[in-house]
Amino acid sequence: MVKYQLALPGSLDEKLAEEISGVVRESFLAANLSRIYTQLQSEAFLSLYRPEMIHQWITQTGGVLAFDGKKLIGTGFVMARQEHHEQEEGGFLYGLYVSPDSQRGGIGSSLLVYLLRVGNTMGLRNFIGKATMFPGVLDFYKKRGFSKGEVVYSKVGDVTIPFFEIHYKSSPWQYALNRILSSTITLCRSKKSSLSLPEGSAPE
Ligand SMILES: CC(C)(COP(=O)(O)OP(=O)(O)OC[C@H]1O[C@@H](n2cnc3c(N)ncnc32)[C@H](O)[C@@H]1OP(=O)(O)O)[C@@H](O)C(=O)NCCC(=O)NCCS
Repeated sequence: MVKYQLALPGSLDEKLAEEISGVVRESFLAANLSRIYTQLQSEAFLSLYRPEMIHQWITQTGGVLAFDGKKLIGTGFVMARQEHHEQEEGGFLYGLYVSPDSQRGGIGSSLLVYLLRVGNTMGLRNFIGKATMFPGVLDFYKKRGFSKGEVVYSKVGDVTIPFFEIHYKSSPWQYALNRILSSTITLCRSKKSSLSLPEGSAPE
């Protein structure tokens, strides 16, 4: 059975950062067999998900991780990022990746539901993200209530990488319900972590 766990700052050790990096890499490269992105673009993008980079940005973010037994098979992250939004309560969704062998089994959809739940619990209602241009990905988001924005570009060093901007707005009901339901997700705990949140608590 697949289990979903919440990863907060302090709950991420080196091993988990490496596993996240591995899932993102494997998933991205498998999707890119169609050569949507050049090798330069792929490597530039994947450099953002090196374990040491994950350690840097995880401090500002909430993550949801999917495990099959002890094996990490899916990742997703959400953070508050005001500069993307005119309104307050803006959230940035990113890093939704499922291992190739585990795709098409509902894991990506579940991660997305949990991410919106975590975002709502953080007080975020309006979400923005950058969807990869791989076939099927934009439709995946559209079917789940997202709308397509413009083509946007990420710059990593000298390399420019295009994405589809995507938007999502939580309805008042979803927002209220998710803030209640958020206590049903358990906390991902590092053995080395000094974090002492009780199991099942949500980020407030
Ligand atoms: C997008 C992704 C996270 C979805 O995860 P998943 O566990 O496969 O998703 P689910 O099983 O919940 O849903 C499968 C849906 O994804 C769509 N999909 C995703 N990638 C697809 C592909 N390469 N070809 C066809 N359909 C694809 C399917 O249409 C399917 O939609 P439907 O079941 O509603 O008809 C996963 O395919 C993935 O990791 N892709 C590669 C990495 C990537 O680009 N991630 C997005 C970053 S923004």
